[in-house]
Amino acid sequence: METVRVGIVGAGWMGHAHARAWQSNAPRGEVVAIADVSPERARHLAAQIADRAVPVFADLGTMLADADLDAVDICLPHHLHTDAILTAARASKAVLCEKPLCTTLDDAALIHKTLQETGTPFMAAHNQLFQPSLVEARRLLAAGILGKPFVIRSIEAGQNRGFAAKARPVEIGGGESPWVWRADPRRMGGGEVIDTGWHATYRLLALAGERPVEVAAMMDRFAVTQLAAEDTGVILVRFASGVIGEIITSWAFGMVGGWHFEVAAEHGSLAGGKTRLVHQLHSWPEPIEFAKLADDLPHTFASEVTHFLDVVQHGEPSQASFEHAARVLQVTLAAYTAAAEHCVVALPEDPTSPGVPAAGTTPAEVS
Ligand SMILES: NC(=O)c1ccc[n+]([C@@H]2O[C@H](COP(=O)([O-])OP(=O)(O)OC[C@H]3O[C@@H](n4cnc5c(N)ncnc54)[C@H](O)[C@@H]3O)[C@@H](O)[C@H]2O)c1
Repeated sequence: METVRVGIVGAGWMGHAHARAWQSNAPRGEVVAIADVSPERARHLAAQIADRAVPVFADLGTMLADADLDAVDICLPHHLHTDAILTAARASKAVLCEKPLCTTLDDAALIHKTLQETGTPFMAAHNQLFQPSLVEARRLLAAGILGKPFVIRSIEAGQNRGFAAKARPVEIGGGESPWVWRADPRRMGGGEVIDTGWHATYRLLALAGERPVEVAAMMDRFAVTQLAAEDTGVILVRFASGVIGEIITSWAFGMVGGWHFEVAAEHGSLAGGKTRLVHQLHSWPEPIEFAKLADDLPHTFASEVTHFLDVVQHGEPSQASFEHAARVLQVTLAAYTAAAEHCVVALPEDPTSPGVPAAGTTPAEVS
């Protein structure tokens, strides 16, 4: 397949970002159809694709029936991911789906069964896996230069108190603002942790490169009062070899320094952010720093689509496979349980099985 013809469903904020990423991968990939419940928004996105007329549809089913597609790119609110993945897979289209995979582990099991039965290529849109500092950090860790990791921290935090001010249609045509469905836990699947925290969680799992076995968590709503759920989560994850992971994720605050991850290991430590990576062997006088100008960086959405094309066109293994995404969901939902029940949650090996509050854990006394 020389060109992968994709239909984007969901012409909102991410639909626009993904369309630009597809265009930067032309002619390997081309956006040939767009579906959105808001006709105005679908037309707005279609107009961004300047080189040809792109037909628009009111829903995924009609787009699949009327457009000649190889793949579907799902950019919908969270509660719609499961049905969209199942519908696209049953129509034999490769699937790229925005995070989170879905909002329940029962749905994840159904998605798994359907992907297997239909042989559908699948990739979760985990764009930050392609951030150069993370790619380089994983290379250093795999090469063993820092020795065995002991503690890994993953941070995804930004001050987002303008949530209410954003609760109006964004400048991409009519339709509902993305901040309205985000404030509805039923459509969101939770609060900040399942949304922005998802990035921090898949990053932590990618850096650890092994199975998480235990989760503890605390969450709160410190500042974003428009949310019915948490705006902040701090999550501890124990991995099979004993490595301890920590996730800090928030819409209530940003962290000084702009680090997205830190790894403390046997022979040295490293820290990475959007534009730099620093590592230092223990007792060496100076750290080694790689830095790049932000303008000079490859865009993570474009790199994500390039990888999806490698998966679809060349059968490369997906770096953001179903199993990887299901594991992120298992950790996320276990964190919600751990925070609500004040306990440590043990994670079964099957990523679609729910965590189990660990026997013998004493619930914290809360006065
Ligand atoms: N990777 C990232 O950095 C990142 C950033 C933002 C959002 N996201 C993810 O992207 C997805 C979409 O988020 P968003 O911020 O673009 O939301 P959005 O609200 O801007 O876009 C969603 C679009 O879906 C449309 N829609 C709703 N129901 C529909 C239906 N039944 N059929 C067709 N269209 C329908 C809406 O009209 C809207 O245009 C979410 O999963 C979100 O978590 C990822």
